[in-house]
Order: sequence, then C-alpha cells, then structure tokens
Amino acid sequence: MPVPKAELHLHIEGTLEPELAFALAARNGVTLPYADTEALREAYRFSDLQSFLDLYYGLMAVLRTAEDFTELADAYLARAGEQGVRHAEIFFDPQAHTARGVPFGVVVEGLCAALDRAEERYGISTRLIMCFLRDESAESAMATLEAAKPYLGRITGVGLDSAEVGHPPAKFREVYEEAARLGLRRVAHAGEEGPAAYVREALDVLGVERIDHGLRCLEDPELVERLARERVPLTLCPLSNVRLRAIDAIGDHPLRTMLAAGLVATVNSDDPAYFGGYVEDNFDAVRDALGLGEEELRTLARNSFLAAFLEDDEELRGR
Ligand code: HPA
Ligand code: ZN
Repeated sequence: MPVPKAELHLHIEGTLEPELAFALAARNGVTLPYADTEALREAYRFSDLQSFLDLYYGLMAVLRTAEDFTELADAYLARAGEQGVRHAEIFFDPQAHTARGVPFGVVVEGLCAALDRAEERYGISTRLIMCFLRDESAESAMATLEAAKPYLGRITGVGLDSAEVGHPPAKFREVYEEAARLGLRRVAHAGEEGPAAYVREALDVLGVERIDHGLRCLEDPELVERLARERVPLTLCPLSNVRLRAIDAIGDHPLRTMLAAGLVATVNSDDPAYFGGYVEDNFDAVRDALGLGEEELRTLARNSFLAAFLEDDEELRGR
C-alpha cells in the first residue's frame, strides 16, 4: 500500500498520456505530427526544459472542450488515488489554452467537473492553482488574472512556470501583488534551471509560500539556512530533474542533503506522462537510488500535508 500523501507539484497538462492524446485528436479532428503513441513516446527524449516545453505545448492542441479537460483530470485523479494521493493541488496553464482560442471558463469548468467528484470517487481532496507563463509578458499574466475573476471561488492560488532562465520572478511583481489582494495563495517555480537568486526573488518580491523545484538553492548556503529556518516548503520532482537533465542520474539527486539541511522537502511528479512516473514512482525511485528508510519516507509524506494549502481541520483528519 502506498503511503498516504499530498501531491503539490503537478501540471494537469503534463498528465496527458499518449493514448488519451490520440483519442482526443481523433475526436477533435486534430492531426498530430506523430504516427502513433509509440512514435510520440519516442519523442520524449529531452535535453533541457525548453525541449520538453516545445513538445508539451504542441500536444495541448488536442485539448479543446470542457469534456476533454474533465477526462484529462479524471484520468490523473484515478491514477493518483492508486498511488496513495489523498490531496492534490493541481496546476494548470490558462494562457496555453486561451492563446489557442479555448476560453478560460471552458478550462476551469472542465477541470472542476472532475475535481468535484474526486473526493467521492477516489478519496482525494483537491485545489486548483493557475500558473502564469513566465516567458509571456507581465501584461498577459495580468489579463489572465483578470479573466480568472469570475472563477476565483474555484482557484486557490497562483504559480509561475514555463521557461525560467531570463524570466526572473520580479517581472511579475504587480501580478502577484494583485493576486495577494484577491486573497490567492502564491507559489512559483524557481531554481529549476534558474539560479538561487531567483529563489530569493520569488520569496522577497513575490511573497511566495512554497518554492516549486528550488533545486539550485543548494548553491547558496545562506539561502538554504533561510528556507529551513522559515520552513518554506520545496516541491521537488526527482524524475523530472533527471528527464530534463537538471541532474545526470537519480542517484545524484540531492534530496538526502536537503532533508539533512532541515529543508521542508516534498516529492512530486511534475508532468508524469512525460517523465516516466507518477508520484509513488518518484518515491520509489528516490527510495531505491538514495537508500531512504521508513523514517525519511514518512517525513516526506508528512511534509506534503504540512506544505499543503489545507485548512487545519482537514490536516487534523490525517490526510
Ligand atoms: N518547469 C517549468 N514549467 C513547466 C514545467 C516545469 O518542470 N512543467 C510544466 N511546465
Ligand atoms: Zn513544474
């Protein structure tokens, strides 16, 4: 039985499995530039974040209707349930869809149709976090936040993803200020490919409560000390780090060092359809490669609930 856990770093578009992609392509009359699911899987050899993002945004062309988003999210939730996930905070990329003519409301309503049934069907509570694409302009991010206003009852927070280097957190200062005014929780990807300075900036300028990835914080000992002292959770994604070449091999993952430094580390799957595994597969991979024991695995699972945007009473129910 997989240990009960919360998944806090999961892009719903990154759960699009090749089989579903082809089924949706057929339904929506979209032609994919791959002969079949095998040829598509063959293309999942990434050299860095950008090489992944190019394929990832391209494949989203198959997602067109609310039902498509419902099916996508439902398939993820079913698998997450099997992997011990009891709570999922799910990222989505509204701009990747609105730019293709799919309205914000279609995406949110489609996702929520699946999320609304997740507790009953799979025993999973859920939250939605909308991410801004950092390689798009701050104005586009602000317009996206504006488009989200009718749906804020369904959206818990904002995040920042896509190509990191050259797009520092401070570019989105005003957007995050507005998000805070609207009562939204704040997170951001930082220190995946970008420097430790981006992690600092995400904390100081954007006021984030968690750092997504944060791997490169290790290059700045003072920052590591601060993250540990302030108990800022890091949502690590070990298999993603290998596939996107942030590290050479899973055995090189610094998770053990991070736990020893007192960091509130969590283990997550990022884009499981692309990176070779869902969250329990990530737990298994680090357990086997780093020789983690029961105590460390329990700490990781406990950290995931501590780091979640759950109300106290939900946490107490032992999620
Ligand atoms: N990093 C940045 N942006 C992303 C990722 C990631 O790992 N996955 C989906 N969008
Ligand atoms: Zn991510």
